[in-house]
Amino acid sequence: MNSYEIRKTFLDFFKEKQHKIVSSAPMVVKDDPTLMFTNAGMNQFKDAFLGNSPAPAPRVADTQKCLRVSGKHNDLEEVGHDTYHHTMFEMLGNWSFGDYFKKEAIEWAWELLTHRYGISKEILYVTVFGGDKSDNMPFDEEAYNFWKAIVPEERILMGSKKDNFWEMGDTGPCGPCSEIHIDLRSEDEKQKVAGKDLVNMDHPEVVEVWNLVFIEFNRMANGSLQNLPAKHVDTGMGFERLCMALQDKKSNYDTDVFQPLIRQLEEMSSLKYGENEDNSIAMRVIADHVRAVSFAIADGQLPSNAKAGYVIRRILRRAIRYGFTFLNQKEPFIYKLLPVLVHQMSETFPEIKKQQQLISNVIFEEEQSFLKTLEVGIQMLEKVMKDASGKGQEEIPGKVAFEMYDTYGFPLDLTELILKENNLSVNRKEFDEEMAKQKARSRQAADMKTDDWIILRSQDATVFTGYDALESEVKILRYRKLETKGKTQYQLVFDKTPFYAESGGQVGDTGYIEDENGHKTEIKDTKKENNLSVHLTNKLPDNPESTFKAVVSSHIRTLTANNHTATHLLHHALRDVLGTHVEQKGSLVQHDYLRFDFAHFSKMTDEAIAEVEKRVNRMIRRNIPQDEKREMQLSEAKEMGAMSLFGEKYGDKVRVIRFGDSVELCGGTHVEATGQIGLFKIRSESAIAAGIRRIEAITADKAEKYVNKKIDQLEQITAMFKNTKDAVKSVQQQIEENKKLQKEIDKLHKAQAAGLKDKLKKDIMPINGVNFLAKKVDLDMAGVKDLAFALVADVENLFLVLANSDGKKANLTVAVSKNLTEEKGLHAGNVIRDLAKEIQGGGGGQPHIASAGGKNPGGIQSALDKAHKLIS
Ligand code: SER
Repeated sequence: MNSYEIRKTFLDFFKEKQHKIVSSAPMVVKDDPTLMFTNAGMNQFKDAFLGNSPAPAPRVADTQKCLRVSGKHNDLEEVGHDTYHHTMFEMLGNWSFGDYFKKEAIEWAWELLTHRYGISKEILYVTVFGGDKSDNMPFDEEAYNFWKAIVPEERILMGSKKDNFWEMGDTGPCGPCSEIHIDLRSEDEKQKVAGKDLVNMDHPEVVEVWNLVFIEFNRMANGSLQNLPAKHVDTGMGFERLCMALQDKKSNYDTDVFQPLIRQLEEMSSLKYGENEDNSIAMRVIADHVRAVSFAIADGQLPSNAKAGYVIRRILRRAIRYGFTFLNQKEPFIYKLLPVLVHQMSETFPEIKKQQQLISNVIFEEEQSFLKTLEVGIQMLEKVMKDASGKGQEEIPGKVAFEMYDTYGFPLDLTELILKENNLSVNRKEFDEEMAKQKARSRQAADMKTDDWIILRSQDATVFTGYDALESEVKILRYRKLETKGKTQYQLVFDKTPFYAESGGQVGDTGYIEDENGHKTEIKDTKKENNLSVHLTNKLPDNPESTFKAVVSSHIRTLTANNHTATHLLHHALRDVLGTHVEQKGSLVQHDYLRFDFAHFSKMTDEAIAEVEKRVNRMIRRNIPQDEKREMQLSEAKEMGAMSLFGEKYGDKVRVIRFGDSVELCGGTHVEATGQIGLFKIRSESAIAAGIRRIEAITADKAEKYVNKKIDQLEQITAMFKNTKDAVKSVQQQIEENKKLQKEIDKLHKAQAAGLKDKLKKDIMPINGVNFLAKKVDLDMAGVKDLAFALVADVENLFLVLANSDGKKANLTVAVSKNLTEEKGLHAGNVIRDLAKEIQGGGGGQPHIASAGGKNPGGIQSALDKAHKLIS
């Protein structure tokens, strides 16, 4: 089977077993502070396991794009060096939410592998959780017995907590698991060592393919395990490893998932995969990383300097560096792999094709800039190496290697490789110390600790009442303490809430809750954590059990709604004016302004900006009423032409917001009718990345104030010109006039300088065969220089010192005729250093002309006297 058929067989199999097939969630996680990237198929169902929100169906299956590059599951450093780990990989999964449990999960996994895929039972091993004392967990006898009914007992192995108790992160859903491992070695090798001795021993051909997790617990922040309200199944099978097994290969990279990319790399580098270990590692690294980076960009995560964006940038840089060092790629090359990747993956993941141009642009630009950094870094390293060799040292300081890493993105192994070519090495101890210091610094910066939730009432999910009302009577379902950088706050979850939780670019609502005794607690912000709406306060209400009146700050909400609706109108107008390639890449909707990022390849012209603004204002004036469909089928909404976002997770039912021809899938809060926005004004248009533009704009009062201020300024300017009808023309005339006047002033200065020159010539004294002149003049620096050059040109054997001052500072200029330097050794640069001491300054220059500045104008006369003495 090719990889496409393998994937399809999995999904078809579980469809037959009444599973609902869902799409992969985006790889970049937006609203879970414990997770940056999707690291397992079950992430998108975390809330369903915890009982915070309903599952999409009792049985679900999918293929999920996962990225394991940070946090608890991080394989980055292994990738490329072995043949079966990846940054991005597909996880085939099936789930039961309180429906079937261990028996079906085990039997179906076996049926699919051995019957449908036809894998020989002889090469499969299974593991079962052997129990753990610290968690007070017994051996999973139930799973053992189900396996025993279908697998010979010698193929069932006991596993430890490390391998057979699966946890998503430090906290969250978890449970014992059973893994299925496959032994792909040759018969000869199997004779030598039994497969069961190699299970979970990091052997590249004896690998885990499928993990069946029996989710029963929630790991709490205090480390304890809490029983979940229901028992669930969460399975995950490594798609690329399954392909390796079914295509009879020894490495994931030999399957049709990676081979086209590797072929292209061979062609680009004129090297052969498999011939040399370093080159092969590099090809594996790049083939893996281009997938991770491309899909992250397609899901809306651009490389950047912070958080998830930084992780993506580092992955891409790792690939660039391997190409640079081992495949001799000194120019951008990774972006050239995009057509191959798109050809391969777009049938299953169409987002990659739709975003191809953008992904290619972004990768190209990142490559270009990092290659420049690499070059600068190498130059710097060369200098360090030269210094070290010059001093006879064999080691360079760990600090330098750390700087190479931190500033120039050189990992230690690259620095070491370059050093080794020059018989040098790094002081590893010092390097490790620097690294530890940096880690401590970033831990401090990211320091955020939460206690476990205190549950007051149990309820599935919060009802959002804030589309219809800004006040609700609410009860607290749960709360917990939050410590961020030494500051204590509390998070509250209500049974229902009028507070909008930050999402879709719109900031969270603020306001207060008031208890029965009239005591108010301020709500500072509202955020989403998975599907929970979490309200942030600085103090806990005195009686959390009480009933509260929750009140949203309505003024702020109204202004925010103006900006949110204006964002939709802007999006629509941009597509009309620039074309339908314009796609939203990010937005920020606050009460005081809006920001909209979108895909477009060039700077917008002033005319286009004006046209967009005009169209938005026209839609505002039409006072188009809001048309809200709160629960529409996703397919119906898409048919209606509703705009959706890449990287956004949509359920089957979506909310659609329509203002005339602008139709968007959106959960945000909007105006009743566009007229309320009043006025829309674009403040700036700029680039934020390759092919991505940003517009910042204001609306309503703020826009009115801005326009009025501009008019006021114009009126003030107009008033300065008496009797003008056209201030712009008057300012232009004024500028022209100033230019003319400046020219005349320059002419006069020149004439004055010529007069001064003639006057000064009369003061020249011949001393010891030198024409000497030392004088203070009333000119600026440029005038002094001109005068000095003019005098040297006119007078032979001249030794000239000119001083000038603005009253606060003093300047000296020394000029010497060429022949004097040669015959008498008079060097202007040396002389000035000496003279400058008198004005408490310093300076230097050429043998023929030099100048110096100082802070003591009172010393000018002594400097001139000193020059006289020198010549005498
Ligand atoms: N969550 C488990 C894993 O990631 C099974 O899907 O291995």
